[in-house]
Amino acid sequence: MSPMNSCRLLPAILLLPLASCPSTMQDPIQTVRSGVFGQAPSGEDIHWYELRNSSGMIACVHNWGATLYELHVPSAIGRTADVVLGFDDMDGYLSEDNQYFGCTAGRYANRIAKGRFSIDAKTYQLAINNDPNHLHGGEHGLDKVIWTAAVASPSSVRFSYTSPDGEEGYPGEVSIVVTYTLTDTNALVIEYEAETSAPTHLNLTHHSYFNLSGAGSGTVLDHELQLFASRYTPTDGTLIPTGEMKPIASTPLDFRTLKPLRRGAEALAASAALGIDHNFIIEGTQGAMRTAAYLHDPASRRSMTVNSTEPGLQVYTGNFLSGQTGKSGQVYPQRSAVCLETQHFPDTPNQPNFPTTLLLPGDTYTQHTEYRFAW
Ligand code: GAL
Repeated sequence: MSPMNSCRLLPAILLLPLASCPSTMQDPIQTVRSGVFGQAPSGEDIHWYELRNSSGMIACVHNWGATLYELHVPSAIGRTADVVLGFDDMDGYLSEDNQYFGCTAGRYANRIAKGRFSIDAKTYQLAINNDPNHLHGGEHGLDKVIWTAAVASPSSVRFSYTSPDGEEGYPGEVSIVVTYTLTDTNALVIEYEAETSAPTHLNLTHHSYFNLSGAGSGTVLDHELQLFASRYTPTDGTLIPTGEMKPIASTPLDFRTLKPLRRGAEALAASAALGIDHNFIIEGTQGAMRTAAYLHDPASRRSMTVNSTEPGLQVYTGNFLSGQTGKSGQVYPQRSAVCLETQHFPDTPNQPNFPTTLLLPGDTYTQHTEYRFAW
């Protein structure tokens, strides 16, 4: 099947009112199309929302896991392509094949050693869902809950979720807002805000798998990556940081200049990570918006720049993808996409030298990340 170029092919009758929309509408918010994506296990409807910009980009999100499931990007030399992995329906999102595709990961994105941390001498035990560690918030992390969605502007959708005190073992009731905006300058902007009722650890990220040639079009080994980082946090055999912060110079992780992902992914294929699956320390000041990464696909000539306020960037070359079937029957083999996850460092709750992830009542967690495209 050819890419749909929109979130859902609506019956013509539903498209008519949109096609006849005057350019100056009374209620501009109506320009965001939406509909039912499917049903959650509870039977509740999950809704999709479509954001479009003036240069032909389309982003489709739904409120199961506050997930980006399509991102259509034009090309100077070919057709528009959907550059993120995902599924067409809820069956896919609820299946084992769903390796956090496009979701909002948390409460703690990435790993916590043995699922354990202490705050004020009290120890909290979280689910061990990535033996022997805790990964991406547990069995039912933020990727597996229904978020409340609202159209926030003609170009943005806001997702809200209140995680109850004790959910997945984490202390504090945490209220989270994630806003996706598609700008006319070709950036998908993701803004996060959260507050807690009790001291807790919070680390949120966006988990899209990108393939700039188009999802399902083979590996990303020839995509070129440049990282604005000169150090990383080495890990043990279970991908938990040793606590060190080491230079990437003279390692297969040295992406300080633009080079094919192949160089790192193949050199590390025999390691525990099976490829690149490492946290890089983004240069500059945490909290200030700065460039973390630049990804370029020579085949399609599309590129993506990642800017963020976060201190770390997990680069993951889809090493655990297993050939699952995604949207429109596409197949997603190992290394057929790359995740560029802006976040705090893995296992920070147990690592005194890492920038803290402790969130206190009265404080506001914020993160601002953007994926900016060019073609
Ligand atoms: C990534 C993580 C990988 C893997 C993946 C999900 O964020 O770095 O190790 O767990 O998520 O399959």
